[in-house]
Amino acid sequence: MRVGILGSGLMGGKLGTLFARAGHEVVFSYARSRAKLEALARDAGKTARAGTPAEAAREAEALLLAVHWSRVDDVLRQAGDVAGKVIVTCTLPMNEDDTELVAGHTSSGAEEVARKAPRARVVCAFGTVPSEVLFPVYQARRRTRRPSLVYCGDDEEAKAVTATLIRDVGFEPVDAGPLRMARYAEPFTLLIARLAYEGDGGPELAYRFERFGSS
Ligand SMILES: NC(=O)c1ccc[n+]([C@@H]2O[C@H](COP(=O)([O-])OP(=O)(O)OC[C@H]3O[C@@H](n4cnc5c(N)ncnc54)[C@H](OP(=O)(O)O)[C@@H]3O)[C@@H](O)[C@H]2O)c1
Repeated sequence: MRVGILGSGLMGGKLGTLFARAGHEVVFSYARSRAKLEALARDAGKTARAGTPAEAAREAEALLLAVHWSRVDDVLRQAGDVAGKVIVTCTLPMNEDDTELVAGHTSSGAEEVARKAPRARVVCAFGTVPSEVLFPVYQARRRTRRPSLVYCGDDEEAKAVTATLIRDVGFEPVDAGPLRMARYAEPFTLLIARLAYEGDGGPELAYRFERFGSS
């Protein structure tokens, strides 16, 4: 798969690297220095390269949106035509100092992204875990009991693409339904962040849902 990374920071840099290691073609874009993008691409391997957001979007089957909420309009503008593209967003709708959600109850960051890019197929995924756990989960991907990762969206094909990427990183995808479920997934992340960054066990934290009963 060709995956364009829009925002190559903690989340985009690590997820892009893991997508490349899993065999996908990856274009890292949107950082303040081109050298950083090139270094990321070098480390990620021969299926990765650095580019502009427009280059990342061109011919991509999936785009990962991984910027601060305040940069969403700018990166989408730079990406250009995203009609028909799968946009996987891990972007949380946080205020400038990252203390509060600025969307919730009647909307979510993911739904706002879908409004900003109305012809794209938006899926909410990867935003419920801290970046610190991504490499450890990938390293443990051969275990039978994988950590869960919730995702939601309104386009079944786009969700199937996203589920593949989630599996490739080492998680068990958990389909949470339509995109509006991001209204619950996004605040759940703040709970995860609290446990990861203010708990005693360190930030390498993932979660796993288990069912009990007869089925
Ligand atoms: N970090 C986490 O654990 C985590 C977990 C769940 C969800 N999220 C969400 O995921 C999104 C990305 O988070 P992150 O932690 O990956 O953020 P980050 O490390 O700050 O990365 C954001 C990227 O955007 C780039 N950028 C910012 N301003 C720019 C500008 N003016 N021009 C060009 N590039 C610019 C940054 O460039 P530089 O590389 O030059 O700084 C960086 O590559 C956020 O919405 C966050 O809430 C994060």
